Amino acid sequence: MTDSPISPVPAVHAPAAAQDPDVLGPAEVAARFADAFGQAPDGVWSAPGRVNLIGEHTDYNEGFVLPFAIDRSAAVAVRLRDDSTARLLSSYGGQAVAKVDLDGLSHDSMAGWTAYPLGVVWVLRQMGVAIGGFDLFLHSTVPTGAGLSSSAAIECAVASAFNDLCDAGLAANELVLVGQRAENEVVGAPTGILDQSASLLSTAGHAVFLDCRTQESRLVPLDLAAAGLLVLVVDTKVSHAHATGGYAARRASCELGAEVLGVPALRDVAAADLAEAAGLLDPETFRRVRHIVTEDQRVLDTVAALAGAGPAAIGALLTASHASMRDDFEISCPELDLAVDTALANGALGARMTGGGFGGSAIALIPAAGEAVVRNAVVQAFAAAGFTAPDIFAVSPAQGARRVL
Ligand code: GLA
Repeated sequence: MTDSPISPVPAVHAPAAAQDPDVLGPAEVAARFADAFGQAPDGVWSAPGRVNLIGEHTDYNEGFVLPFAIDRSAAVAVRLRDDSTARLLSSYGGQAVAKVDLDGLSHDSMAGWTAYPLGVVWVLRQMGVAIGGFDLFLHSTVPTGAGLSSSAAIECAVASAFNDLCDAGLAANELVLVGQRAENEVVGAPTGILDQSASLLSTAGHAVFLDCRTQESRLVPLDLAAAGLLVLVVDTKVSHAHATGGYAARRASCELGAEVLGVPALRDVAAADLAEAAGLLDPETFRRVRHIVTEDQRVLDTVAALAGAGPAAIGALLTASHASMRDDFEISCPELDLAVDTALANGALGARMTGGGFGGSAIALIPAAGEAVVRNAVVQAFAAAGFTAPDIFAVSPAQGARRVL
């Protein structure tokens, strides 16, 4: 069988990573590959996870987002073969090598974590990129199910690898769409372009201001250290999967809102139109629409504030974004709200959940000198509430996907 359209895999979740995976340098990733497959790889590619500073669920509404890549990434070592066999191994805890005949690729052969690399290969082959067999070793330090785009990191590393190895000549914004298609059509999550754009377009020390309608992007300097600040991630350990559940329902609400309001996408609704929209939409759809419309404006305001007074001026926008997601879009959860409220009560300038929601991580913009206070307060608040202990770590804007060996 050649590559034919495949139905989405219904229940693929993000791969189960170790909680504190070792950080391996490119040479170590290559050595692990050689141990497993008996030869050196052709190269090693790395792509980061992300936090979204602001602009949530605006991507598939053709609006604005402002993410940055974090210093946690997926690395893949790949060697091309001269047959049609793919052998895949990850460092996700003692798994055996998965062996797949690419000429018989079907959704059954793309189970678990292999759906991400094989999904990308499937999309590239659909686009006419001549990918034959290959061996692949994956190692990731992006926590999974944490709202930090562990899946996009894998997709972008793999897409970058085959783009180079097969001389596909795809530009970064085209690789973004390859990763998104793998996510949408193979994994079955109806996501937008936020995560892959952050992973592929980021540069150290900057956030990426992206117009999701035109795919035009601009790097926005984000020198947190110079402002005496840092971004703390609180991974609530409440796991989410966007292939199931509320994400698709939110997307459907947004599409309904746009249809009733007679616009191509909610990007086209202005804040001044909201009063009229309230009379046209049912109350729930109106709240969903109001989140998107106000969130788009908050992204623009954040970009302006960064260019003006700098990072210390964006705190209130982050916190307003969280309130909108909690009350209007209804994608927060008690753990995320507690992380945000506790950070704010202990010196954070602003805080919000980040990513798709229903679990995952919150971010807090805090004075660097106050890190221990915020950490301890959040840990204690989670313990007092009887929640699982969160994982808390600082992130800084990092380099996007690239060949590292
Ligand atoms: C997930 C999706 C993105 C985006 C965010 C919400 O991360 O993958 O496309 O929709 O949720 O902003």
